Amino acid sequence: METTSAEVQKNGEQKQQEQVTKHGQVGHKSLLQSDALYQYILETSVYPREPASMKELRELTANHPWNLMTTSADEGQFLNMLLKLINAKNTMEIGVYTGYSLLATALALPDDGKILAMDINRENYELGLPVIQKAGVAHKIDFREGPALPVLDEMIQDEKTHGSFDFVFVDADKDNYINYHKRIIELVKVGGLIGYDNTLWNGSVVAPPDAPLRKYVRYYRDFVLELNKALAADPRIEICQLPVGDGITLCRRVV
Ligand SMILES: C[S@@+](CC[C@H](N)C(=O)[O-])C[C@H]1O[C@@H](n2cnc3c(N)ncnc32)[C@H](O)[C@@H]1O
Repeated sequence: METTSAEVQKNGEQKQQEQVTKHGQVGHKSLLQSDALYQYILETSVYPREPASMKELRELTANHPWNLMTTSADEGQFLNMLLKLINAKNTMEIGVYTGYSLLATALALPDDGKILAMDINRENYELGLPVIQKAGVAHKIDFREGPALPVLDEMIQDEKTHGSFDFVFVDADKDNYINYHKRIIELVKVGGLIGYDNTLWNGSVVAPPDAPLRKYVRYYRDFVLELNKALAADPRIEICQLPVGDGITLCRRVV
């Protein structure tokens, strides 16, 4: 029996929905078309070059109940190279968890580099801290426990901090990303970069309204959609959205 074009389209949509559902269920660390392709990248290019300390932290985090939150190894490798490419020295991270992206950053910065790192949870940061200390990069980190927004507001009050950051990585409460952006845009230097993580949000940004998404995925999806639109329309930045990890949008401040 011949297949009509409507059926072909329906099958395609069904497949797309299955993919979104699967990603939503397992909290995939990749948006690639197949797990095998992602595994290939990890095994060929990422794991063989992963610094021993990052491997140790990744394995330690894998035993933690919230391990889905951690930055993936390929994204860690990407961040590390990006920071070296831009010669970053003064950076900020919102959302630390056990510190995988923090360690990727700390290893990329020069010895006198700085990372202002914020998280509402100190316990998880302290799980990874011994590994960061052993790697000899803990002196670059200024960890602040608590919500990031008041710290940003405080910095905004001080003119000296304006335009002082080379790089800011945001990987925390998605419902605040727009609020973070309003402040960070003043704090990052012209020519500096902001990286917003999870901007493809488990692929849910294209899920149909009735897709069976996990509650937290559904809740944050609208905020991610709103952020993506706002970034695309913001004339103060150039943007580039990459399908690395769960999607990362790089924003380069231009004015
Ligand atoms: C996805 S995890 C960060 C993962 C981390 N970048 C890594 O590489 O493992 C998100 C983190 O944001 C933190 N967080 C949530 N709300 C926050 C807030 N208002 N201010 C600062 N951190 C927050 C959570 O405690 C959690 O550790």
